[in-house]
Amino acid sequence: MRLLPSLALLLLAGCATDDFIVIAHRGASWDAPEHTFAAYDLAVAQGAEWIEQDLQMTRDGQLVVLHDDSLDRTARGPETDCRGLVRDKTLAQLANCEVGSWFNAEYPDRAKAGFAAERIPTLDAVLTRYAARARFYIETKNPADAPGMEDSLLALLRRHRLVGPGTREGRVIVQSFSPARLERLHALEPRLPLVQLWDDDIAPDDLVPLLDRVRGYAMGFGPARRLLSQRLVNAAHERGLDVHPYTVNAEAAMVYVLELGVDGMFTDRPDVLLRLLQRSTSP
Ligand code: G3P
Ligand code: CA
Repeated sequence: MRLLPSLALLLLAGCATDDFIVIAHRGASWDAPEHTFAAYDLAVAQGAEWIEQDLQMTRDGQLVVLHDDSLDRTARGPETDCRGLVRDKTLAQLANCEVGSWFNAEYPDRAKAGFAAERIPTLDAVLTRYAARARFYIETKNPADAPGMEDSLLALLRRHRLVGPGTREGRVIVQSFSPARLERLHALEPRLPLVQLWDDDIAPDDLVPLLDRVRGYAMGFGPARRLLSQRLVNAAHERGLDVHPYTVNAEAAMVYVLELGVDGMFTDRPDVLLRLLQRSTSP
């Protein structure tokens, strides 16, 4: 709270501008099971404009929204269908799994009986359901284990008119930890906005030179929060890259990150971030 006046000044000074984006990380995944319609519905109801999807590919080549390559952490149901790797299952098998009861067991204070009915959504279903209500921030997970993921993703984005001729611009961003995969996507579809993610397994000093490569194919850079520094934010901005750190859930950390002048952030708690932004700009 003590920091809010300085944040207000920062916002008024344009450091966190109208272009600042709130990204609901795996949906409003603090309060509902990640990557479910329940989490996305809640994020949209809370006012988040951007919802995040992590992509996996099934054995029969369907894109589904799930963080882990394995079903074991979040899926429950018949063992033959709901244990093991997503890439070894068909979409029909995944339809037999629910992905909400793990959340109720792990977070009893936030549990809701209805969560246990949540299913693994296809990306197609998410793009359809939220077409008029949200923008999509899609991560290609494990693309090396899913040959053809980029091609399938592009085909789907074109079908939903999120990229390509007649497109509604500014409604999708694709993110990945893999520079090679993003470079391939950029070659396939130069109009698609891309963000290069970076984990905190690198010395911050080694990161700045990498930005020169990133600017060749991406519009932004998504560092782990622990990598963030004023030097890094400035270096990215000097290269024309937006900065969207992940994943910021505590209000004090949100204030710190905003004060560095980032252009958006991933949070499991979009309600907390939006309230902070509103309080900071109200007279
Ligand atoms: O995509 C940003 C952030 O979500 C990367 O980490 O593991 O939550 O996908 P992860
Ligand atoms: Ca992600």
